[in-house]
Amino acid sequence: MNLLVTAGPTREYWDPVRFLSNRSSGKMGYAVAAEAARRGHAVTLVSGPTALLTPGGVTLVRVTTAAEMLTAVRAALPECEVLVMAAAVSDWRPVQCAAEKRKKCGAQPDFELEPTPDILKTVKDLKGARTFVGFAAETDHLLEEAARKLADKGLDLIVANDVTQPDAGFDVDTNRVILLAPDAPPVALPLGSKRAVARELLRWIERARGESIEEPTTELPRAGGARLARQMAFVAEVDKLKQIVRRTWLTDGSRYENDAEHSWHLALMAVLLSEHAPVALDVGRVIRMALVHDLVEIDAGDTYCYD
Ligand code: CTP
Repeated sequence: MNLLVTAGPTREYWDPVRFLSNRSSGKMGYAVAAEAARRGHAVTLVSGPTALLTPGGVTLVRVTTAAEMLTAVRAALPECEVLVMAAAVSDWRPVQCAAEKRKKCGAQPDFELEPTPDILKTVKDLKGARTFVGFAAETDHLLEEAARKLADKGLDLIVANDVTQPDAGFDVDTNRVILLAPDAPPVALPLGSKRAVARELLRWIERARGESIEEPTTELPRAGGARLARQMAFVAEVDKLKQIVRRTWLTDGSRYENDAEHSWHLALMAVLLSEHAPVALDVGRVIRMALVHDLVEIDAGDTYCYD
């Protein structure tokens, strides 16, 4: 199956340094994406700002605002059979974002708010035979509110989440949820890791779509096998860089150096000499660029500017 999963909060800026957002860490949506990849599904993860690592085998699309998340969902949805909206989309945004930082010594903040687009409602017409799953993070009237959203947003399933408990909901590694589908009794899942909750959710989705997935025995993403094979092929291919002889000599003059030696030397110099750069550097990026900058010469041969 092709799954589209959203995760994390959105940020709605009211000046260049301040925004409205919420407590979402993205952990639940990332757990759904990771578990789906482990079960062999293709996963696009549209994520608001989080501090989480991208799960293996998942295609990540980063967004910041609700409007950007809507655009990303619209773009990915045609290729997907399942949408899981685990993101905590900000419901309000300032009508205008000030071009400059607002000063606290000025007048009281007086910014006007407007609703952000409701992503699920906006893409409702594109649903067709797709399976749509929403989340309802509630502090009160959990089941009533979840049932209202299930009907209102035209969903196949809603995951009702009581966020008042310390071991469930925002920014913790565990969750306790109730699965609610139209015309079916609610199914309360026991307290478990977000990964365990994700597993039950994926099982529900697979059953609903008539997919029978053999329970994976490893923690690695199933699609990861093909990815790993491509990565190893790349590792073997770049070995050829050691065969590309340059016109520059080793310092002792004994022979020409090769491209791999040159790239390594450059990367090392970037780390060593970064303190002398006139501006703050993203040294990790400089190292990555230094390491790949001559790979093209595996095909092009040494291209030099001296003569
Ligand atoms: N959702 C969405 N677009 C929004 C807000 C929410 O698609 N602008 C999605 C969420 O990702 C979730 C579901 O709708 O899957 C319910 O979100 P929730 O915040 O619980 O409900 P709201 O519709 O925002 O309603 P309320 O704030 O009144 O609880």
